[in-house]
Amino acid sequence: MASVTVSHVTKSFGNFPALSDISIDFSDGGLYSLLGPSGSGKTTLLRLIAGFSFPNTGEIHIGGSAVERLPVEKRNIGMMFQNYALFPNMSVYDNVAFGLMVRDTNKEEISKRVGDVLELVRLTGYDRRKPHELSGGQRQRVALARAIIFRPKVLLLDEPLSALDKALRLGMQVELKRIQREIGVTTILVTHDQEEALTLSDKVGVLKDGKLLQEGTPREIYERPATAFAASFLGDANLFKGRVVSGALELDGGSCLRSLDVLPEGGTATCAVRPEKISIVADDEVLASDANVMEARLDDIVFAGNSLNYLLHYGDIPLQVFAQNHEAAELVPGQLVKLAWYARDTILVEA
Ligand SMILES: Nc1ncnc2c1ncn2[C@@H]1O[C@H](COP(=O)(O)OP(=O)(O)OP(=O)(O)O)[C@@H](O)[C@H]1O
Ligand SMILES: [Mg+2]
Repeated sequence: MASVTVSHVTKSFGNFPALSDISIDFSDGGLYSLLGPSGSGKTTLLRLIAGFSFPNTGEIHIGGSAVERLPVEKRNIGMMFQNYALFPNMSVYDNVAFGLMVRDTNKEEISKRVGDVLELVRLTGYDRRKPHELSGGQRQRVALARAIIFRPKVLLLDEPLSALDKALRLGMQVELKRIQREIGVTTILVTHDQEEALTLSDKVGVLKDGKLLQEGTPREIYERPATAFAASFLGDANLFKGRVVSGALELDGGSCLRSLDVLPEGGTATCAVRPEKISIVADDEVLASDANVMEARLDDIVFAGNSLNYLLHYGDIPLQVFAQNHEAAELVPGQLVKLAWYARDTILVEA
């Protein structure tokens, strides 16, 4: 058992609260992603879990034991931090073996373990190379090998793939997930990359200003964002702010939007609609009886290969609509188009 539990953890630097009352359960063997803007406290939280600094208040348990006052070396945690560095003059083998050598593990054992872990990260045969003789993705895998050679119970990864270009990053994401599953290590991943968080994680937590705004499966957070911030931070969102009249959201331009959520009568509210949930429809198209319909001005069509991104305005509200790249309608910027989507895709994010 190596679940990690953070309970009511607070961490301040001077009187700046970097983390306020954070409680998260990281389940045994799961991959949990922490998402949030720069400065939201992601690295601070990982450092507390690792033992590089101590919380002001609150508790941290690993596998059921309180660790918040234990030093780093007593926690059995593998880490790959933002701006990790390999030793440039040392071979791949020595880089990976380094931690075991300083721990006085015997030579045969070291050689066996380095061999195993290099196989796991698919770098068998690269052990004599120096870091400068490797590609970016290979270097990243050496760093990962170094982090897991101790067979840690917990693996902390702080933007491990951010230095890679998109193609390499996608390849490494698949590798990372495979390795994580194979060794079954409880993993906490910090990433700025929303696609990475959505595709890799069992669970995602959204941090902002040192607070946990929302957590859930990637699907839950994507489909049911609890705040306008979460809606726009994870994925793209069209945000409509209006007055609630007879249970519908009345916008400044006159359109009334229906939602399956209960909107607060008489007040103002904001609803989010994902760009791929909206369709551009023909005037005579038959729509669901509770569909939301609005007319918007088309500003531009961005060709994105497999999809087309329509940029529009409804009054002064900027809108995006994503469509698959097929059966392209003959639309020209400047024209008015009719948009439609289901009431159920209109999500209340702020009341
Ligand atoms: N040792 C420190 N002393 C003072 N302030 C700090 C210290 N470490 C972090 N902070 C502050 O705490 C806040 C959270 O920092 P943290 O590094 O956790 O952010 P982050 O979410 O990892 O951001 P990024 O995405 O940019 O890496 C920031 O405002 C930062 O300036
Ligand atoms: Mg950070």
